Amino acid sequence: MSLKNDILYELLNNDDYISGQALSKKFSKSRAAVWKAVKSLIHDGYDIDAVTNRGYKLTDSNNLISAQSIKAAVKSDVEVLYFPSVDSTNNCCKRLLADGKNGVFLVTADEQTAGRGRQGKSFYSPPLTGVYFSLVIRPRTTLQNAVTATTAAAVAVCKAIEKLTDKKPKIKWVNDVYLDGKKICGILTEAVTNFEDATVESVIIGIGINITTVDFPEDVPSAGSLNAKISRNGLIAEITSELLEIAQGDYNAFIAYYRSHSMVIGEKIKFIHNAKVTAATAVAIDETGGLEVELENGEHTVLRSGEISIRRF
Ligand code: BTN
Repeated sequence: MSLKNDILYELLNNDDYISGQALSKKFSKSRAAVWKAVKSLIHDGYDIDAVTNRGYKLTDSNNLISAQSIKAAVKSDVEVLYFPSVDSTNNCCKRLLADGKNGVFLVTADEQTAGRGRQGKSFYSPPLTGVYFSLVIRPRTTLQNAVTATTAAAVAVCKAIEKLTDKKPKIKWVNDVYLDGKKICGILTEAVTNFEDATVESVIIGIGINITTVDFPEDVPSAGSLNAKISRNGLIAEITSELLEIAQGDYNAFIAYYRSHSMVIGEKIKFIHNAKVTAATAVAIDETGGLEVELENGEHTVLRSGEISIRRF
C-alpha cells in the first residue's frame, strides 16, 4: 500500500486525532512525507481536520467507506477489504484469488480508475459519488451460474434501495437497475474456473451504483444517479446481506421479486446478439431468470446470455 492509503486506513479506523509524529513513526516516513500524503487526501475530497499539536482526524462530514463499518453491518461472516483507489474491484478480486485468497470476501474502493462493464465497456467510477464493490462467493452456493448470480445481485440491489430509501428501482433484463428511466447501477459477474477440471471455483459479482454522480461521460447518455441521502457503507452492507441470503435461500421468492421489478415485460424490445438486431416483445421471465420473448413471426424464444443487449423501442 502507498503511504496515502496507509494514512487513510489509520484515519478511518481511529475516532481521535493521530499525530503526524505517530504516523511518521508507524510508517517509517518523514513528517514532510506524511503531510504531503495528507494534503493529497484533502485534494481528493477527504475532509480532514488538521490541528496543531494534535494531528489529523477525518471529520464526521465524510460519508467514507470503511471496511469495519461494512463488516459490522453485514449479517453473514464476510471479509471486507477497502482500498481508496483501484483499477477495478473485479480485477482486484481476481488478483487476490490468483494469490490463493480463500473464503467469501468483498473488495470495495472509493474510486476505480479502470472500472469495467459488460461487453468490454468501461464503467465510470469517480471518487466518493458512488459505491463500487465486488463480492466473491464460492460455487457451492446456489448461485453457481453467472446469470443467476447476476439476477440475484440485481434483486439484492433493488431490495436494499427500497429498504434504505423511498425510491422504486426497476430491473432491465438481465441486470441493469434503473430509476426514473436512467441506469443507476451496473453489475458485472465473472466466473473464475479451475483450469485442471474446468469447474467454477469462484464467482465474482461486481456492483457499481451511482449515488450522486452528475457529470457522466458522453457515451453513457442513459446514466443517472440514485440521488438519495444514504450511507455508502450501509448500502454495501445491505446489498451484501441480501445477496448472501438469496444465495442460501428461497430461489422461488427471489425470482418472483425479480419478475415484479422487471421493466421490460410486455414491452416491445430489440435484442442484439453477435451484432444481429432482432425485434421482439418481452413476454415473461422464466423460472431460471431467462427472458422469454415473442419474435415478429410469432415464435417464442428464451434469452439467457448476459452477452445479449436489449433496448426498448
Ligand atoms: C455494466 O453496466 O455493464 C456493468 C458495470 C459493473 C460495474 C462494477 S463496479 C464494481 C465492479 N468492478 C468493475 O470493474 N466493474 C464492476
